[in-house]
Amino acid sequence: MYTQSFSVPDGSEDAKSVGLKAVPKALSAQDAALQSAFDARIDADGRIEPREWMPEAYRKTLVRQISQHAHSEIVGMLPEANWISRAPSLKRKAILIAKVQDEAGHGLYLYSAAETLGTSRDQMLDGLHTGKAKYSSIFNYPTLNWADVGVVGWLVDGAAIMNQVPLCRCSYGPYARAMVRVCKEESFHQRQGYEALLVMMQGTAEQKAMVQDAVNRWWWKCLAMFGPPDADSPNSAQGMRWGIKRISNDDLRQKFVDATVPQAKVLGVTLPDPDLKWNEARGQHDYGQIDWDEFWATVNGNGPCNKERLGARVKAWNDGAWVREAALAHAKKQQVRQLKEAA
Ligand SMILES: [Fe+2]
Ligand SMILES: [Fe+2]
Repeated sequence: MYTQSFSVPDGSEDAKSVGLKAVPKALSAQDAALQSAFDARIDADGRIEPREWMPEAYRKTLVRQISQHAHSEIVGMLPEANWISRAPSLKRKAILIAKVQDEAGHGLYLYSAAETLGTSRDQMLDGLHTGKAKYSSIFNYPTLNWADVGVVGWLVDGAAIMNQVPLCRCSYGPYARAMVRVCKEESFHQRQGYEALLVMMQGTAEQKAMVQDAVNRWWWKCLAMFGPPDADSPNSAQGMRWGIKRISNDDLRQKFVDATVPQAKVLGVTLPDPDLKWNEARGQHDYGQIDWDEFWATVNGNGPCNKERLGARVKAWNDGAWVREAALAHAKKQQVRQLKEAA
């Protein structure tokens, strides 16, 4: 996984205070020169690297986006990990373990990328554990049966790929480079989910019904993963200007719908939207209204599994305290030994 459009402000931030409307402070001559060098680099589609000058708002936006992304990766491990012990075969269990492990790796790359901007991992995790930082709303829904695992791979990881491929061209170097590897792994996640569903759709009537039921429950939530409509995304334009965001929420959502409709046809499932139809004039599919009230309720902590997910993360952090302490003590001992040897 996984992203929704990470332009959603974290808990303590006022959506209106972040973004284009902020009045820029008067710059000193030196700052103005740095700003124009930065702008020129962005205009030339160049990369910004960790030690280089960048506007504070750019740095803050990246820390928020990359940390929300990292949180989503590690919270995203939870709904699927629930099925590792219940996978229907050894093969499916091995695939699922590998996938969940990949998500942990994605979290690690992304926390490391965010740390290059001067925010510590402890600070970011504190934001997650105190409920201040956001993560993708999709993980606050339960995975009720085995078909959900396939549908999460096909649709949730599929939506994530759509969102994340443009991030490989993001203007911030460490984030862009992390996304190249992440996207390769997401592609495997999407395929394993789709393949698991293809097998179920060749099975019994009950198995086919399970797949359809899971598709019905996840479809609209996946469309919401791309974030609010462009008209309600005040931060998107600034993200585009900075080369962080390359394609708008609505355009990504449209690409996802157009790519998924033929896949659903091959699979033999119906997407639960009576308004979904090909629009010849636009050369794209029309689709129905997304329930944004439900999306915002979930983002703001009131989805079916928000408390459970956060509780699991806090417990994992607390249970791992002894490992962190032991690693630090070991590192300190090594350092003392090296100093002694050097003396
Ligand atoms: Fe994934
Ligand atoms: Fe991932």
